[in-house]
Amino acid sequence: MRKIVIDTDPGQDDAVALLLALASPELDVLGITTVAGNVPLALTQRNARIVCELAGRSDMPVFAGATHPMVRPLVTAEYVHGKTGLNGPELWDPTMPLRKEHAVDFIIKTLRLNRDGAVTLCVLGPLTNIALALIKAPDIAAHIREIVLMGGGCFEGGNTTPAAEFNIYVDPHAAKVVFQSGVPLVVMPLDLTHKALTTRERVARFAGLGNKVGTFTAEMLDFFERFDKEKYGSEGAPLHDPNVIAYLLKPEIYRGREVNIEIETESDLCLGMTVVDWWRVTGRKANALYMRGIDDNAFFELLFERLARYSD
Ligand code: BDR
Ligand code: CA
Repeated sequence: MRKIVIDTDPGQDDAVALLLALASPELDVLGITTVAGNVPLALTQRNARIVCELAGRSDMPVFAGATHPMVRPLVTAEYVHGKTGLNGPELWDPTMPLRKEHAVDFIIKTLRLNRDGAVTLCVLGPLTNIALALIKAPDIAAHIREIVLMGGGCFEGGNTTPAAEFNIYVDPHAAKVVFQSGVPLVVMPLDLTHKALTTRERVARFAGLGNKVGTFTAEMLDFFERFDKEKYGSEGAPLHDPNVIAYLLKPEIYRGREVNIEIETESDLCLGMTVVDWWRVTGRKANALYMRGIDDNAFFELLFERLARYSD
């Protein structure tokens, strides 16, 4: 079993990623840490607990982390995810507890307890918690197996500004810390996630799984895709975050390249841009495996198969 910590800002696509991870016996989810992003922290930590309860995992330790980015004011995305962050299905007040420990301290403690480099960090939102942990406890960098994150873009441009993807745009200073940390990085950018679309047929497959998780997922995706379909004129919305988890389960369905990536933190125009040296023109050392190719049918088949495992 592979040990992971999931850092997240749910978010419908984050929720699907959590459901995939919690249905997968290959993964040992040590805890879920939450961050402000798609919606403020008070909602992301609540949404993470709702998803754990839906998955029948009210035992899962869930932690609250940063309420805002390291330097800039928080930018949220209710225009995509709705006021709650998880609009679509009917939500409830979760009864499972939020742990008292701060997410950043949980991340540091967990990595220090696993000095053998066994823990992978799966990051589905702005990188604030991860950067704060690396700054507070620089020794942990050496103990992280790898960080697999959803963020950035190059060939597709940005989805929040013409230059920047949401997770990196929200906290570019945190992203810079992580990309310069020397920790092995796997990046799932827009260039990849824009090839993993929630078509009508796929949403219907979730709806037809015959369990509560399938219905909840279809209702979330119905809401989630309305904005992106109009924006991109596409058949559905990119299902971004579950790619982070799917990569751990089926790396063979992804293709990418080791490249250097630097983060723009100075320019107004290009703030939060991931400057990807795809053609290796700079001579700068590669710091990330940047994914661009996906077998999208295999990705969705994995999701259908895993989410069907939930019993009501
Ligand atoms: C990323 O931003 C959020 O809206 C999604 O949850 C995803 O993590 C895509 O740009
Ligand atoms: Ca997210």
